Amino acid sequence: MFEEGQYFAPVTADEDGSLKVHLGADHPGFADPAYRARRDALATLASSWRPGEPCPTADYTAEEHEVWRVVSEALVTKHRAYACREFLDGKESLGLPIDRIPQLAEVSEWLAPLTGFSYRPAAGLVPLREFYGALADKAFWSTQYVRHHSVPLYTPEPDVLHEVVGHGNTLANPRFTALYELAGQASRRVVSTEALEFVSKVFWFTLEFGVLWEAGELKAYGAGILSSPGEIEAFRGMNIRPLDIAAMGTQLYDITDYQDVLYVAESFTQLEDVVGTFWAECTDDSIARVLARTPAHA
Ligand code: TRP
Ligand code: FE
Repeated sequence: MFEEGQYFAPVTADEDGSLKVHLGADHPGFADPAYRARRDALATLASSWRPGEPCPTADYTAEEHEVWRVVSEALVTKHRAYACREFLDGKESLGLPIDRIPQLAEVSEWLAPLTGFSYRPAAGLVPLREFYGALADKAFWSTQYVRHHSVPLYTPEPDVLHEVVGHGNTLANPRFTALYELAGQASRRVVSTEALEFVSKVFWFTLEFGVLWEAGELKAYGAGILSSPGEIEAFRGMNIRPLDIAAMGTQLYDITDYQDVLYVAESFTQLEDVVGTFWAECTDDSIARVLARTPAHA
């Protein structure tokens, strides 16, 4: 899941309550009527959910299951090579299926004894405050649709593969979920939009696109890298900078392509020390002081 409207296709409601998803002309599924009908149906399904209920069951098609299988299979060896230990431990304990898309309700049941996190279905863009605030309640807003079959290696729009293979395997590990919860608590503490955006940018460069050193090798721990069989092959060649809260919170980025600036932690422990402590302690004032002395980075 993420944050800024332009990556999420706008969703509108018809008179009968069914939702329409407006894909842009450059979306890989734009000219595919069957795909567009699926997007509308899955958005409408998500909108039927009410708090306290399990996520509604999506009637995935054979073609959608096949996209999941192709991506999951490609990621088996890539995760072994490039994912950090904590992600691999989470993946091992969660045990996601490879040959079919699991339901968000099922994954929530599997996460319950591991970390207590559960999914909520998102019909479209979830406002920043709602998305991050939910993390403090161990709840993760998630898309339910599948990327178009023509772009299995990388999609600029988060889909159920990203939410479940990328985030789900991290939500199975208590060291990761402690960080998600701290980000959620930080988002509820800050009042100004600028401070909230700063908190969310730090999230972007860590839990979405973070990398770390592990026994002398560069590994990924960010869900956005770990759900993309294309990007996971590319991150080691990017512009890798040391972990730096002020830099991450003000770095500009393009969400439609591989991230070319990445921040590396010396270890998972350093990530907890630096980023965990930032989220645990940040306030509007502390963030305003950082912003006052740090111009935005192009
Ligand atoms: N690129 C990711 C993938 O192919 C999915 C994704 C799209 C994403 N937008 C994102 C991930 C924003 C993190 C943040 O799996
Ligand atoms: Fe995400």
